[in-house]
Amino acid sequence: MVSTEDFFKKITSHAKEYGFVFPSSELYDGLSAVYDYGPNGVELKNNIKNYWWKFMTQMHENIVGIDSAVFMHPKIWKASGHVDAFNDPLIDNKDSKKRYRADVLIEDHIAKIEEKINKEVAKAQKRFGDGFNMEQFLATSERVKGYQAQIDDLRKRFADLMNANDLKGLKDLIIELGIVCPISGSRNWTDVRQFNLMFATKMGSLSEESDVIYLRPETAQGIFVNYLNVQKTGRMKIPFGIAQIGKAFRNEIVARQFIFRMREFEQMEMEFFCRPGTEMQWFEYWKQERLNWHLSLGIPKEKYRYHDHEKLAHYANAATDIEFEFPFGFKELEGIHSRTDFDLKRHQEYSGKKIQYFDSEINESYTPYCVETSIGLDRTFLAVFSYAYTEEKLEDGSQRVVLKLPKILAPYRCAVLPLVNKDGLPEKAKQICEDLRSSFRTHYEEKDTIGKRYRRHDAIGTPFCITVDTQTMEDESVTVRHRDTMQQERIHISQLKNYIIEQ
Ligand code: GAP
Repeated sequence: MVSTEDFFKKITSHAKEYGFVFPSSELYDGLSAVYDYGPNGVELKNNIKNYWWKFMTQMHENIVGIDSAVFMHPKIWKASGHVDAFNDPLIDNKDSKKRYRADVLIEDHIAKIEEKINKEVAKAQKRFGDGFNMEQFLATSERVKGYQAQIDDLRKRFADLMNANDLKGLKDLIIELGIVCPISGSRNWTDVRQFNLMFATKMGSLSEESDVIYLRPETAQGIFVNYLNVQKTGRMKIPFGIAQIGKAFRNEIVARQFIFRMREFEQMEMEFFCRPGTEMQWFEYWKQERLNWHLSLGIPKEKYRYHDHEKLAHYANAATDIEFEFPFGFKELEGIHSRTDFDLKRHQEYSGKKIQYFDSEINESYTPYCVETSIGLDRTFLAVFSYAYTEEKLEDGSQRVVLKLPKILAPYRCAVLPLVNKDGLPEKAKQICEDLRSSFRTHYEEKDTIGKRYRRHDAIGTPFCITVDTQTMEDESVTVRHRDTMQQERIHISQLKNYIIEQ
């Protein structure tokens, strides 16, 4: 059995080797938590974007898109609450000089206790074999019960400290739990301080005269400040939504797990404006609708779960995460929040401009309520990529690595391969390739044996390999090899396009 860490290493190196994701600035030894997408990665990423964009703006009549600037007036971040409250609690180890998130140190400690339970379960499973009853074991093992009680107690104390913003309490808990720095092994910690996650820069040609502005930490505020423009110019009637895809920047203290937590990343967000009092109904609608989108990619529903928030942010009256089972466990992939009228009201207050909607159906003016769906593009990439990565042992004893990507997302939909480089086969294959190119991203390849070419396309997730052989020259038929089953079918060239669409 491959450990989580090894599996993750494999995914990261596969992503690099096959041109999906490169560490940024690698030539200069990289830049922490920043990544570049290579030729195959950018195709996969664009396909995810298109799939989301079409679902939101084409399949929903009342959703339109925008593309707002990364730079925005600094007052926007004051109004949104990011200047004062977009913080993580950080702590430094005085010996290693390394910086950590205090909350993550405690969460990791809890995860270690959970790991002990998993080890107990694995041992018992081995001991009892087929007769093992997991539920009964968890309920009766004194050792497991002890660990679970520790976890419950810690979780409660931790949540109380975070909610009370008790930084001293967080440090005391780290000391009490004997948490050591993974680098120096020491418990020589500084006090816990709040650290604002926004990147700041200056605008203007003379820095003395210039104002501090921020790189946006979310795309959502670009939507809120354009609410009036979009509603008026599009003559939008409530309920309606505004969607946006774009870069966001956060100075994450602990940036790890590859493209899961980055300092520069992309979000796909949609703010849905509705009449006050209807927001819960829309919240439920978007909760289901967004899960449906994930499931439409063909990934089994067991890989997703909702995590309803018990403690709500001050602006929200309902919130849930759609979590995905990443190689390192279930983690947030998308957030769905009912944000009330908080954002529009704050922008009304800080800008001094009226942001109201006149609802002719009820003859009333009000500040619309808003339900937000916010998904990380890079996290979706990681979810799809890690789920697709498969190592298979074949009947002849060899091994293949195949990316079982959803067909609609694969960098190439098909590859056209002449079996040999003679007898007019390459010319015929090139012609087929040209014909398919206008419908699908198609790759022509003639180098190496056919087996090696199949493997290369398996590794980048190409769903169909079309092989041109001597029979093609006689009867205009080709073989189509299916990536996941490796089965081949003979198809007439004139049927190829429809066949690929329908499969
Ligand atoms: N406007 C709401 C908002 O920004 P969030 O939960 O902070 O909410 C939304 O972010 C989504 O953005 C997350 O569910 C996650 O998928 C993605 N995301 C957040 N921080 C990220 C990071 N540092 N790296 C990659 N993706 C991130």
